[in-house]
Amino acid sequence: TTTKLQYKVKDLALSKLGRHEMNLAEVEMPGLMSLREEFGSSKPLKGARITGSLHMTIQTAVLIETLVELGAEVRWASCNIFSTQDQAAAAVVVGPKGTVDNPQGVPCFAWKGETLEEYWWCTEQALNWGDGVLPNMILDDGGDATMMVLKGAEWEATGVPATKDSDSEEWKVFLATLRKSLETSNGHWTRTRDSIQGVTEETTTGVLRLYQLQSAGKLPFPAMNVNDSVTKSKFDNVYGCRHSLVDGIMRATDVMLSGKIAVVCGYGDVGKGSAQSLRAQGARVMITEIDPICALQACMEGYEVTRLEDVLEEADVFITTTGNFNIITADHMAKMKHNAIVGNIGHFDNEIDMAQLEKTKGIVKVNIKNPVEHGNQVDQWTFPDGHSVIVLAEGRLLNLGCATGHPSFVMSASFSNQVIAQIELFKNGENYDKAVYVLPKHLDEKVARLHLDKLGAKLTTLTKEQADYIGVPIEGPYKPSHYRY
Ligand code: NAI
Repeated sequence: TTTKLQYKVKDLALSKLGRHEMNLAEVEMPGLMSLREEFGSSKPLKGARITGSLHMTIQTAVLIETLVELGAEVRWASCNIFSTQDQAAAAVVVGPKGTVDNPQGVPCFAWKGETLEEYWWCTEQALNWGDGVLPNMILDDGGDATMMVLKGAEWEATGVPATKDSDSEEWKVFLATLRKSLETSNGHWTRTRDSIQGVTEETTTGVLRLYQLQSAGKLPFPAMNVNDSVTKSKFDNVYGCRHSLVDGIMRATDVMLSGKIAVVCGYGDVGKGSAQSLRAQGARVMITEIDPICALQACMEGYEVTRLEDVLEEADVFITTTGNFNIITADHMAKMKHNAIVGNIGHFDNEIDMAQLEKTKGIVKVNIKNPVEHGNQVDQWTFPDGHSVIVLAEGRLLNLGCATGHPSFVMSASFSNQVIAQIELFKNGENYDKAVYVLPKHLDEKVARLHLDKLGAKLTTLTKEQADYIGVPIEGPYKPSHYRY
């Protein structure tokens, strides 16, 4: 029997464009393509039912088809309401062998410009495999799919907590979604939780959530922290943002960045790439930090390290990269220059206090661009004194909301770690405790190796004597775990 492929995307006719773009991306994703070669016939993911919650872009489409080629069944949703590329979503549904009239790819629930209700509906669809079938792996970015499973299971026992006035809009919608789901779930979320063998997490913010669960003794399955592979956070977070931050600002505003003053809040991995991105355009870049080590690093790179309050009137562009919340408030924006640009590249939208902006009387929002008509979200917020600020992607990560996120090559490194982590937890999960792990260094080095040829790099091989002298095997790993790169 064949059951009809389930999906909800904008328009399957976009799949042709998506496929063309995927074909280009594959050439730029040597890591994923060589994993297909290495594991395509042994199919280590056979039997894996992976629910993915990760920005539904062209690069993710190549990841999805890699997982499928390795034997997995996959269902997907995006992890942000603005980050889907509709042609990518269409292409994965149609699949490499299907047609628009006869799609044969994977169930995908994602489109650009979802409402919050639709967002959680999509996540729920990606987790709901139907008729007694349960997912056994999660591939997460930011932790929303994991949270939905864990909260669903918890609340099946205790009931959904009451909504409070002080709850964020996001949280209210999440509560409402689960409240409705629990009316008919009949233990479904608990069974789903118990069926999950492992989760692999893509980003800093999601990893933070996992370590918090682990400390609270509430992590019910092993988790792989993909973010802290060196070939992920020291590449994607840095060089990915170096590419996609200014891409997003430019597509959204077309403003000239040369000569402007740009403030980057946070100088971690994303902050470092973001600062470089703006400096390369000729902007004068200032940094805010709470960590003296990162602040000193910024100083050594020649950036001025200052407090946000001291540059509100002066700066032209404000970017948050902290993974923290309430970094830029409406009170801050009230003091900014006319048409100052405010955007966030951290995972969640609460880095900029959008809720306060919405609530404050007398501030008027005019939508300049929106995802349906223009492919990105730009709003101008005018304050009672007549000055405006331009807020990108409603405070959500602007590189994916206003542009297309990181380019393929760097995502190949990130996603190679994802695929290896999925294989490890699916095949060898019983060797792991209910805790958060990073991939062993030899696999991190392997991911790097897979990307050198494409760039024409020629690696030097240690002699036996040299290897002995520094005390490492000729074939690696080359560094102790405390090495920081
Ligand atoms: P990180 O931990 O390396 O850097 C964050 C930095 O912000 C830290 O140095 C911290 O000291 C600083 N910080 C915290 N509170 C601050 C405050 N109140 N004021 C100033 N600085 C403050 O984290 P990473 O890897 O840079 O990630 C940052 C965020 O970006 C996370 O939410 C992550 O999930 C997200 N991310 C987004 C990507 C994108 O494509 N948009 C790509 C990768 C990560």
